[in-house]
Amino acid sequence: MNQRVEEVVTVACEPGESLLSALERQGHRVEYQCRQGYCGACRLSLTEGAQAQALTYLRPPLAWHAENEVLTCCAHSRQPLHLKLI
Ligand code: FES
Repeated sequence: MNQRVEEVVTVACEPGESLLSALERQGHRVEYQCRQGYCGACRLSLTEGAQAQALTYLRPPLAWHAENEVLTCCAHSRQPLHLKLI
């Protein structure tokens, strides 16, 4: 039986770079489909205490996400951010 293991990573975006692109640049594999903010496949959880106010959306996403989640394909962070990868 496979067990999913949660990994916490710190990601820092370059100017204009999405969190998803920054994660990929750092060698992490993140699920995605549309890269446009409407499918929700790239949704990740923020760690407790993560600076959610540092997040901005490069374009408004259509997919739903909870307050403690982020759609990485269309979000950008002004400072290093801790995210949970599963
Ligand atoms: S990949 Fe579809 S919402 Fe991010």
